Amino acid sequence: MIASPPNLLRIQRALKASGKRSYHDLVTLPGQKPIVSQGPPGYSAVSGHVVTVFGCTGFLGRYLVSKLAKMGTQVIIPYRDEDEARIFKPMGDLGQIVRMEWDIRSESQIAECVRHSDIVYNLAGRDFETKNFDFKSVHVDGAERIANIAAQSGVSRFVHVSHLNASPDSPSKFYQTKAEGEERVKAKFPTATIVRPGTLFGYEDKLLTNMAVWPIWWKLNHGETKIRPVHVMDVAQALANLMSIPQAPGTISLPGPSALTYEYLLDLVASITLRPPSRAPVLPKAVATALAKAAQSVWWPALSPDEVIRRYIDDADVPGDWASVGMAEPSEIESHAITYLRRYRSAENFVRPIVFPARPAPAVSE
Ligand SMILES: NC(=O)c1ccc[n+]([C@@H]2O[C@H](COP(=O)([O-])OP(=O)(O)OC[C@H]3O[C@@H](n4cnc5c(N)ncnc54)[C@H](OP(=O)(O)O)[C@@H]3O)[C@@H](O)[C@H]2O)c1
Repeated sequence: MIASPPNLLRIQRALKASGKRSYHDLVTLPGQKPIVSQGPPGYSAVSGHVVTVFGCTGFLGRYLVSKLAKMGTQVIIPYRDEDEARIFKPMGDLGQIVRMEWDIRSESQIAECVRHSDIVYNLAGRDFETKNFDFKSVHVDGAERIANIAAQSGVSRFVHVSHLNASPDSPSKFYQTKAEGEERVKAKFPTATIVRPGTLFGYEDKLLTNMAVWPIWWKLNHGETKIRPVHVMDVAQALANLMSIPQAPGTISLPGPSALTYEYLLDLVASITLRPPSRAPVLPKAVATALAKAAQSVWWPALSPDEVIRRYIDDADVPGDWASVGMAEPSEIESHAITYLRRYRSAENFVRPIVFPARPAPAVSE
């Protein structure tokens, strides 16, 4: 990993351009390969990148960190809860996973987290509001703060994770603030890449596992809402690929391959868990909202009133940009659902084969 004289010159230029502190910071210039790298990509190699992943302790973040560390990338892990940060330790070689405590409201802590990084991912987001953090404080103000500090610190790439349905005109505050956050990020970091995934499924998801436990909440809108579920591993891979694709378009949509109704997904979950389909009633929206408000005042991770609104919104019908992140079509939900749902089977049904429900025929346009 000794830098040759031409590389030293590049390092000097890069340090000057980025305002980094010293030669031992591994830096890249926008659109260029890492200056210092060693060995074929792998756990014990040095990819030459130092990456900060805000929101790493969430569902998607863990898979992204694991993929980055496996390539020999040094990953800075900003965390709030000590226990949440423990799982990262074995993901990378010695010294490759660097934990740093942070608060999204603290500019100095954010600056410390991005000081040595050439790439910053922002995955911080929330599904429900709390008394300390509403959607705006995380999706808009937090995102803007991180983008601004990253730009000032000479970070060369900024990747911001939004949502497929982000829209300023959405009835959901979550989607509205996601759209506003995108604009604020682009204002502070004009070359930022905005990634818009569809609803994610995987081990810790809030889709398949939630359907298996709380089917009643997925019957809202008579189960007719259509979403485009996407495998968390596919989105994590796409995000990791972005590291080596500097010319990626400004906004990348990553929906799943098929638009599926909640009704079909509930049937799919029932056919895999081998439990009888739920006989729960279809709640009217007003009742569901009132129950969600009451539940949220008792226990936060319960369904929030904004999630009730989102249960009536179809996923945006936009083409996927998988090719631009070097990937073919993402996987179908049926290919992976058994992995995440087998634990809901009874012991005697544990290894029984699956009989998938028929997919509804697509509506024929007039
Ligand atoms: N899951 C989906 O279906 C889906 C679909 C499309 C887009 N997205 C977006 O993708 C991103 C990651 O999703 P996810 O499913 O991994 O979300 P998640 O599991 O809820 O994780 C959210 C992450 O954001 C952090 N965070 C939340 N509020 C914070 C605050 N006030 N201060 C600091 N950190 C905070 C959490 O940190 P703590 O662990 O410390 O709470 C966690 O690391 C989010 O922006 C989400 O909106 C998700």
